[in-house]
Amino acid sequence: MPSDRLNRPLRDLRISVTDRCNLRCTYCMPAEVFGPDHAFLPREELLSFEEITRLSRVFVELGVRKLRVTGGEPLLRRDLPELIAALSRLPGVQDVALTTNGLLLPRLARDLKGAGLGRVTVSLDSLDPQVFGRMNGLGVWPERVLDGIEAALQAGLGVKVNTVVQRGVNDAGLRDLWLALRERAVVRFIEFMDVGNHNGWNLDAVVPSREVLARLSADGTGAEFRPVTPSYRGEVAARHLDPQGHEVGLISSVTAPFCGDCSRARLSAVGVLYTCLFAGSGTDLRAPLRAGASDAELRGRIAGVWQERQDRYSEERGEMTPGQRATTASKVEMSHIGG
Ligand code: GTP
Ligand code: 5AD
Ligand code: SF4
Ligand code: SF4
Repeated sequence: MPSDRLNRPLRDLRISVTDRCNLRCTYCMPAEVFGPDHAFLPREELLSFEEITRLSRVFVELGVRKLRVTGGEPLLRRDLPELIAALSRLPGVQDVALTTNGLLLPRLARDLKGAGLGRVTVSLDSLDPQVFGRMNGLGVWPERVLDGIEAALQAGLGVKVNTVVQRGVNDAGLRDLWLALRERAVVRFIEFMDVGNHNGWNLDAVVPSREVLARLSADGTGAEFRPVTPSYRGEVAARHLDPQGHEVGLISSVTAPFCGDCSRARLSAVGVLYTCLFAGSGTDLRAPLRAGASDAELRGRIAGVWQERQDRYSEERGEMTPGQRATTASKVEMSHIGG
């Protein structure tokens, strides 16, 4: 299948299986917006596991090699290991991963591993109970997430940890988190992004990755870290090693956008295809699917969208004034496409 208009191939599919979550992170689903009356998607609107598997097969035929299951919180979707089993059996798939907040891993890690899952990425922003409780919006303690990480490791899953960094919120505790986790998992620090429409993003709240690296090191300069060559074209995290060989990843979508190699498509829980994390709209694949489209028709539709693609939002953001950013058309919510 041909590349997009900026010559980027399609390699990655990120599949959201629910828009619900059992946390209310302030930068993703703030409790004031996603309150008790919030209307989540009704079940019949969601793609079934059969529909997700069929679409995934078509995507794989078009060149996708890596599948990542996301949410909301994907472990809230009932019987998720069944979907993982179906996805990992698809011929041509090299990697099936899951992004989760970890709270349900003690219950599910073994079944997920048994179903063929290779690894999980667990979000954890701070080890300070006050800070983490505030950031997750519900006062949930970091120990609950650490238990989930431990359960995943015990089950034999690979573990990465994602930490979103916000200035004045959790930046003081980055080194503590890194020291506590680096033996057990690959930690990645993510620059706070203006995803969705509700997180009150502004540039002052972003801690540039080079400053994060400095904060992680003993001498406060970051000089002890050595960059590692990317393991594949378009790798999101810039990997670094400390003198003991522990790996840390820096995801710098604000200060060093990586749109140039972006090979990721995103499928929402209701079957809308998005070609960028910051897209305002997408292409409905559920309607043709439910109207009886053939595989060839679905392939044609997806290929058509990809060939027209020219998204590069993170690069464009750098060229916008705050005023232009404020008037940007509304964007898809993170809870619909899972980051
Ligand atoms: P690996 O397969 O482990 O390398 O995963 P990954 O690097 O794809 O990581 P993951 O899916 O955990 O992504 C980490 C975070 O990086 C996401 O949650 C987003 O916050 C951010 N991110 C991932 N992909 C993109 C992207 O295409 N654009 C932007 N702007 N941010 C992204
Ligand atoms: N900026 C950066 N990362 C974010 N995530 C969610 N919202 C944001 C944001 N505004 C991350 C979460 C999780 C992944 C799904 O996306 O921390 O690791
Ligand atoms: Fe839930 Fe993850 Fe969003 Fe936090 S970042 S509210 S855990 S989906
Ligand atoms: Fe890809 Fe859009 Fe992210 Fe750029 S901003 S890396 S095009 S998803």
